[in-house]
Amino acid sequence: MRFAVQIQSLSSSPLETAADALAVGIYEDAPLAGATAEVDKALGGAVRGLIDRKEFSGGSYETAPLLVPMGQAKQALLVGLGKKDAFNTGEAFRCAAAASRALAAKSRSDVAFYLDEGWNAEQSESGVAGALVGCLGQDIHRAEKKRHPFQTIHWSTKNAAAIDSGRILGNAVNLTRNLVNSPADEIYPETFALRAAEVAENHGLEIEVWDEKKLAAEKCNALLAVAKGSSRPARLVILKYNGGGKGDSPLAIVGKGVTFDSGGLSLKPSEAMLTMKCDKAGACTMLGAVQAIAALKLPINVIGIAGLVENMTGPAAMKLGDVLTARNGRTIEVHNTDAEGRLVLADALDVAVELGAEHIIDLATLTGAVIVALGMEVAGLMTNDPPWCDAVAGAARKVGEPVWELPMYPEIYDDLIKSEVADIKNVGEGRWAGAITAAKFLEQFIGDTSWTHIDLAGPAFREKPRPWIDAGGSGQYVRTLVEVARAWKK
Ligand code: BES
Ligand code: MN
Ligand code: ZN
Repeated sequence: MRFAVQIQSLSSSPLETAADALAVGIYEDAPLAGATAEVDKALGGAVRGLIDRKEFSGGSYETAPLLVPMGQAKQALLVGLGKKDAFNTGEAFRCAAAASRALAAKSRSDVAFYLDEGWNAEQSESGVAGALVGCLGQDIHRAEKKRHPFQTIHWSTKNAAAIDSGRILGNAVNLTRNLVNSPADEIYPETFALRAAEVAENHGLEIEVWDEKKLAAEKCNALLAVAKGSSRPARLVILKYNGGGKGDSPLAIVGKGVTFDSGGLSLKPSEAMLTMKCDKAGACTMLGAVQAIAALKLPINVIGIAGLVENMTGPAAMKLGDVLTARNGRTIEVHNTDAEGRLVLADALDVAVELGAEHIIDLATLTGAVIVALGMEVAGLMTNDPPWCDAVAGAARKVGEPVWELPMYPEIYDDLIKSEVADIKNVGEGRWAGAITAAKFLEQFIGDTSWTHIDLAGPAFREKPRPWIDAGGSGQYVRTLVEVARAWKK
């Protein structure tokens, strides 16, 4: 799927810009200024009138079309930017995306954004990324598209360098979204690996793909056990980006890539299964982030690992009561075949440890329990190293992607995954603290390496649209990972 929007820096004034539409911004609590004031003047005070009559308030993500020509442009869109004091990098992303999403409802080729007035470089970059994300929908397979990506985005800014990095971020988020949105019969372990190889080729990354033979030779028995019920063979993808020094130990990003999660013999009911193409979102987020880190040429070494399987119910499927020996030697009693993500990650994390990662982040749509705890918008963080978790949380806060840390008290939670017949079992005791017992399981495969786990089961995939993004894969946490990489070891 090729998706190429041109982005050009814009220097002409709004009324001299020939475009299918202009987007102009208004803060809720600040007077009309800049491009918006010019548009208002051209329309004889009509924008002022809309505000005075409370037709438009300038709240975040609010948009109102002005369907008349102004200057060289065919029409304009008013875009709310919220309260000026509350404006930040996350708001820049979402407000620009909301504007872009509204404009992309119709087919328009040239759109000029005049939102970025007095924004700092980070806000400009996020705004450009948001403009790319907002105009892409989830209708890969729909003849009549609901979103029409523009041919050209004109972006007015004083921070011209932010256009290039914003484009890189927006394209990475959209790569992740498109992969997540692709159905399970298109993206399965082998085809995901091919897509990763394309990214590697385009960005000069090293790539290794472990097939089922190599996985067996590498004793990845926990990962392979999940794949047994499927006609699709498993894969493990290892990407290496070497932007740092030769001996510098890498940052590892590990993603759960369950390309479809039926639950296995512990079968999910239909409603819960319907969206389970999203269960590869962790791996897709890893791939988007590694692409962006490489395109930005960050001066560090990064390893990206995707554990790729389909969790199905075929005749050879893993059974309840099976005992698996994971790559690191731990034995696992299977109590529920639907707790498969942790089995896949057990071996993928062990590979990251063996490759000498200094810090590990894993991303996984791991538990329904994290959604019960935090809802659909917030990812749960769990760690064996609080300062490393703080670094991840700080990066997320900086780019405006919500996260919240859950506790890992050993004296409370460690016992809950003990098994009568093996070292550990793949579920906790009952439903309580399900997100944490899953993380406690992962912790068994980390050794002494510093690790933070991101359970993004809620935010990775939206069932309903938000003003700034269509339903489906969100690409959320790609920008957090890039920010982590930028701040790493600084
Ligand atoms: N992929 C699911 C978790 C999930 C749920 C992701 C909802 C996205 C939306 C995971 O593999 C799973 O099935 N987890 C079980 C674990 C349980 C059996 C211990 C769950 O959360 O119910
Ligand atoms: Mn499952
Ligand atoms: Zn799953």
